Amino acid sequence: TRYDLVIKGGTVVTEGGPRLCDIAITGETIAAIGTDLNGAEEVDATGLTVLPGGVDSHCHIAQVEPGMGHGAESMVTGTSAALAGGTTSIISFVSQHAGEEITDVLAETLARGETALADYTFHQIISDPTDKVVLEDIPRVVAAGLRSLKVFLTYEDAHLTDRAFLRVLAAAHREGCMVTVHCENYDAIGWMTEQLLAEGFTEPKYHAWSRPEVIEREATYRTICLAELVDTPIQIFHVSCHAVAEEIERAQKRGLKVWGETCPQYLVLSATDMDRPGREGAKYMCSPAPRDASDVEDFWDDIRRGVIDVISSDHSAYFFEGPENSKETAGANADFSRIPNGLPGVETRMPLVFSEGVSKGRIDLETFARVTATNPARIFGLYPRKGAIAIGADADIVLWDADRRVTITNDLLHHAVDYTPYEGMEVTGWPVATYLRGTLAMKDGEICAEPGQGRFLKRGTYEMATPRGITPNGFEAAKIAPRPAARAAE
Ligand code: URP
Ligand code: ZN
Ligand code: ZN
Repeated sequence: TRYDLVIKGGTVVTEGGPRLCDIAITGETIAAIGTDLNGAEEVDATGLTVLPGGVDSHCHIAQVEPGMGHGAESMVTGTSAALAGGTTSIISFVSQHAGEEITDVLAETLARGETALADYTFHQIISDPTDKVVLEDIPRVVAAGLRSLKVFLTYEDAHLTDRAFLRVLAAAHREGCMVTVHCENYDAIGWMTEQLLAEGFTEPKYHAWSRPEVIEREATYRTICLAELVDTPIQIFHVSCHAVAEEIERAQKRGLKVWGETCPQYLVLSATDMDRPGREGAKYMCSPAPRDASDVEDFWDDIRRGVIDVISSDHSAYFFEGPENSKETAGANADFSRIPNGLPGVETRMPLVFSEGVSKGRIDLETFARVTATNPARIFGLYPRKGAIAIGADADIVLWDADRRVTITNDLLHHAVDYTPYEGMEVTGWPVATYLRGTLAMKDGEICAEPGQGRFLKRGTYEMATPRGITPNGFEAAKIAPRPAARAAE
């Protein structure tokens, strides 16, 4: 057989482990994996590692927001950055805005998606689960091909009370959706912030003081309990440290469908980065906050053992300077509570995890492929089409130079913003070519894909988002038609 394209002689990271072989592609999918395969086009991958295209299941790219927030990155810049960093599929967000129909925001978000260079889908954020949202809008979102919801337990305009959270979990249980959760205690952060500001503690480093580990740990435990009550599969977003992972591991040991995600910023940065002179610390401000560096080895162990099984970027890009979408929108001297939270990272995600993980001997190549591609694809219903090098899968493939040393600078990157928190950091291992569904999309840092080449990934039912069928007392409360919100609140 003569295939369209054969990638020859690389170290191919399959789910069965790395092996020296060829990959043959016909059309958009992988047709064969073996030796001595022949193609109309052949690419020599000798000396390179061949990885599944990354799946970044948490990025705020082209998120439709009124006013301030996430606006810096367009679908074009965000997905170009993704491809340059070895990521071929992203999951961004459809938000919910006060006074606007979810279905209108969904339509606008889907329209923005049409300019993508990489494949994409969305999580639906629910910040106000009214009767209409729960009964009509969530089913419509599911019919449109989304299968995951996102809730925040903190942030002024987004946080849910426990009762509202339960309504979302119940809707997800009925619809077969995964619920992803930002776990921090809103009231505790508000109270801590008041105390700090009253003492005149306003600099960026106090962002971390306002939301210590315990505030995340409490919200994580509460989330796990509420999800157990309703019987809804959940993923805890951006787990920052080992102490939080311990809560997740306890739940997993009890058989609950609870997964944990972390991000490179919690492996590479620490709270001391926010304690840099002047406003510089704002470059490292995200929520949860980067923690003390001393327990990072325990955290890597959580990744090795699969307690934390996804490393996404939580790409949430703000300019450092400028009047709009920047860290100084509230003024150059704004206190920490008024500086937008979030870091750019979609392009540096895989290089940082490879360098800190594989090159430093903390994880093997299979674990790297699992946490950056296979597991996010499985947890969000994209597998086996995405996330692994396997026959029949989309030919999303990255050629990786494991020995290449690169000093990260913002000039190298394709995202829209004016800084990277990893400026000056040297990494070992870098993507040299990215294929999206069999077509070369990036080579040596040059993007060759065009806007519109990315495809919307429609998701159906899948095992990981299916409830276990176990509730306390056997009473499946989520199956009962939802009570009107006004009565429920009495
Ligand atoms: O600080 C962060 N993580 N900003 C992005 C939004 C979120 O909380 O995920
Ligand atoms: Zn979050
Ligand atoms: Zn996020």
